[in-house]
Amino acid sequence: MPRDEWVDPNPMEAEHVRPPVGRHGADEDADPQDQEARLRPRSLAEFVGQAELKDRLGIILDAAARRSEPPDHLLFAGPPGLGKTTLAGIVAAELGSYLHVTSGPALERAGDLASMLTNLQQGDVLFIDEIHRLPRAVEEILYPAMEDLQIDVVLGKGPSARSIRFDVEPFTLVAATTRTGLITGPLRDRFGFDFRLEHYSTADLQAIVERSATIFDVDITPDGASEIAGRSRGTPRIAIRLLKRVRDYAEMRAAGVVDHAAASAGLEMFGIDVLGLDRIDNQLLDNLCRRFAGGPVGLSTLAISVGEPTDTIEEVIEPFLIQQGLLVRTPRGRMATGAAWSHVGLTPPAETDDPGPIGLFGDD
Ligand SMILES: Nc1ncnc2c1ncn2[C@@H]1O[C@H](COP(=O)(O)OP(=O)(O)O)[C@@H](O)[C@H]1O
Ligand SMILES: [Mg+2]
Repeated sequence: MPRDEWVDPNPMEAEHVRPPVGRHGADEDADPQDQEARLRPRSLAEFVGQAELKDRLGIILDAAARRSEPPDHLLFAGPPGLGKTTLAGIVAAELGSYLHVTSGPALERAGDLASMLTNLQQGDVLFIDEIHRLPRAVEEILYPAMEDLQIDVVLGKGPSARSIRFDVEPFTLVAATTRTGLITGPLRDRFGFDFRLEHYSTADLQAIVERSATIFDVDITPDGASEIAGRSRGTPRIAIRLLKRVRDYAEMRAAGVVDHAAASAGLEMFGIDVLGLDRIDNQLLDNLCRRFAGGPVGLSTLAISVGEPTDTIEEVIEPFLIQQGLLVRTPRGRMATGAAWSHVGLTPPAETDDPGPIGLFGDD
């Protein structure tokens, strides 16, 4: 079963999205029924938190608007669910530009990207999600387009093959990635700006929960919102998902009001513990302590034991467990900390009390 923060609940699937409401557009909500779509902030002002990023981005967009030129290419990096796709939509909306949406894995062949690029009109925004998954041959088409507004397309095969040069209209590429480490140097160098999204504070998440509750028409108290925020792993997508689960619980058991008691009882019932760990996190820690005696155990063995792909373990599950001081990566594998043993209700064996990170090679 995939973890749901891994799955975008409301991806902008359409290849062409009308510019939503923004500084230069005045278009009303296309479909007021669509709560999921309404959850996405449409302007920088509505985007909660990430103050530094918002400041920088605001200046870049204002300066571009003043010069009536598309801004330089933008890269957003950070864990899933922190608002990268949302920001791509905001950039287009704030510029009053047409947004084209695609993703690294969707662009299988060079021709797929070439046709998108040649269809762009002056000032359009092209959003490529998961750009680290762009095939190499496709990535190479992107370089001259980003730099010189030109692409070379090879037509035909073998001795009769010839290369034709096309012009591309001035555009802004907005790219998102969960894995900055996987982006090649030449690609990264072609972005004018590189933004890193950080995990959100509980106060910011509380504001996001309250904003979402208004959109969902849920009755929530500040301490109810804060309880959900505190168990959301610093991630807006998780905060919104937990709000929905607690709303269901509150409707059945607490007269529909999400107060502190309803929030904590509801979260408990859906298997979210006080640290915000869910069943898979807890199962992983439990396996690590009980089945593998606290480790060290290899990443793939651990992944198999909870039935998740190694990528999910590395990118989604482990970072939070490491941040919470429950798990460490050592040269010989993953190890449980003393805190992990206590969390699963066991006494740590004396020698594994606190292994601490060892050596330079903190990976498998
Ligand atoms: N700063 C924010 N303020 C309000 N809502 C947010 C914010 N960041 C993300 N969200 C909400 O969280 C969800 C996930 O955001 P998304 O942009 O899809 O994340 P990513 O693309 O980084 O995985 C969306 O429903 C979005 O509306
Ligand atoms: Mg996204």
